Amino acid sequence: MSRPVEIAPSVLPADYSKLGEECAALQEAGVDRIHWDVMDGVFVPNLTFGPDVIASIRPHVDVAFEAHLMVVEPDRLLSRYVDAGCDTVIVHAEACTHLHRTLSHIAELGATPGVALNPHTPPGLINHVRDLLGIVLVMTVNPGFGGQAYIASMEPKISEVATLLEGLDCDVEVDGGIGPNTVAGAAAAGANVLVSGSAIYQDLEGLEHAVTDLKKRAQATRP
Ligand code: DX5
Ligand code: ZN
Repeated sequence: MSRPVEIAPSVLPADYSKLGEECAALQEAGVDRIHWDVMDGVFVPNLTFGPDVIASIRPHVDVAFEAHLMVVEPDRLLSRYVDAGCDTVIVHAEACTHLHRTLSHIAELGATPGVALNPHTPPGLINHVRDLLGIVLVMTVNPGFGGQAYIASMEPKISEVATLLEGLDCDVEVDGGIGPNTVAGAAAAGANVLVSGSAIYQDLEGLEHAVTDLKKRAQATRP
């Protein structure tokens, strides 16, 4: 049984002067979760949302939050993002010396553990931590910025990850360059959670249309 298609907007392109309203509008538009792209300026050359920013938004929306931690030494920050209200915490495999321990720590904190794989990172890296995972994020851009081009050569890797996770209670997520022209390729390859930032905010017909359209295109790839 395939896992439900979920749309997880990245708030990276949102208007930060009214972030609470922006998140409420995304909830209104029918998103399944909100994807917080957390960047520390070291793992990636950009700086974004601290835990206090997310905590300030948490009481105003009900939709699930996932933190995509593009940070070095994420163990230092796990409890802060869980306490801020993130239901899922995704760490980069490339940033973890002891990935098994870090994922176990996220679970002990009561959140769903996830791992993100940069474009160069082989899927086999999750082999010995599969039982700890609730989500695997296959990056379809090099992390750090929104609005980049989708790396279509990641599609075989998405399929490899999906095969590795068969039978496990674990989502396959993609992040980067996901829009109307790329979502079907990613979904057909095996992704069921789709992160999109620019494409959602650039849809001239509005957020709800963008979310509905992406979901429809992803679902249309299924038998
Ligand atoms: C990269 C970010 C982006 C973002 C999505 O570090 O993770 O992938 O969420 O950006 P778009 O949808 O604009 O490519
Ligand atoms: Zn992300």
